[in-house]
Amino acid sequence: MHNGFIQLYFPDADAIRAELSEGLLAQHAHTSPKYLYDALGSTLFEAICKLPEYYPTRTEAAIFDNCLSDIARSIGRGSTLIDLGAGNCDKAARLFSALQPVEYVPVDISVDFLRDAVTTLRQRYPHIKMTGIGMDFSLSLDLPQAVRKEKRLFFYPGSSIGNFNPDEAATFLARIREACRSDGGLLIGVDLVKDMATLDAAYDDALGVTSAFNLNLLLHLNTLLGADFDPRDWRHRAFFNQHESRIEMHLEACRDVEVRWPEGRRRFNEGERIHTECSYKYTADNFLRLLERAGFGTTRTWTDERGWFLVCHARAV
Ligand code: AVJ
Repeated sequence: MHNGFIQLYFPDADAIRAELSEGLLAQHAHTSPKYLYDALGSTLFEAICKLPEYYPTRTEAAIFDNCLSDIARSIGRGSTLIDLGAGNCDKAARLFSALQPVEYVPVDISVDFLRDAVTTLRQRYPHIKMTGIGMDFSLSLDLPQAVRKEKRLFFYPGSSIGNFNPDEAATFLARIREACRSDGGLLIGVDLVKDMATLDAAYDDALGVTSAFNLNLLLHLNTLLGADFDPRDWRHRAFFNQHESRIEMHLEACRDVEVRWPEGRRRFNEGERIHTECSYKYTADNFLRLLERAGFGTTRTWTDERGWFLVCHARAV
């Protein structure tokens, strides 16, 4: 059995510094959510997924548990399962017995983490061909020749699609559609609009884990940029913006502060914010329209009894 690992992503330290510097110097300072996930950030995110207030992970898992045979019937066996943002590959591995993929292609930008995860997984599932790919799939979905073209099923769980704004999401979904033949499709999990108190609590939990996750970005910026952020000068802010239908996460200066790094410096007045993440929430109808706009055909959906989270299988035709 041929197994491989293909590394297409090599971080460009200068480009990262330039991007971060530009975001921090913008009138409304902002950073990309991908910088939340250094080693500590990834561990804090795993902890978030276990918090009582953070419903998306367990709600999605319950939908997959309860509806797995129906989902598998919709998809059929023998897919080329392409896992976007695979991480530890756990979510996809739980689908293996029902879906019986012919090939598993985990894709992630965290190259070393992914390589280790695939090595372990191969020992558990020696009959599934596995091709790990270290790449930034937000830039391109051009998969290497080695990846089977038949029956591609893109797997994008966890409502990661929520980090894109709706236009970007439509473009990204259209690129997934382009990367499938007519026998392919998409299995995606999406967080739905719900009462504001539930949404706010999920991103501002009582234990302060999400606060630590957000503040840790400053430590990561100190490493990437050589900046001198002091997390004690900043506080976590997260709230549902109803007009935009999104959770916004910000870091807010507790006092007037000056931050320096080799390429720049900035004064932040007390109360001034750095926008660190958006997490868009959809209605089922709006999300189905987005899939249609992206060129997908028939879609089947599954949800939980409270209607908090949606799992969709969208066919390429
Ligand atoms: C990984 C983007 C799906 O938006 O819910 C969790 C990230 N941020 N708590 C989300 C996150 C704060 C998460 N996604």
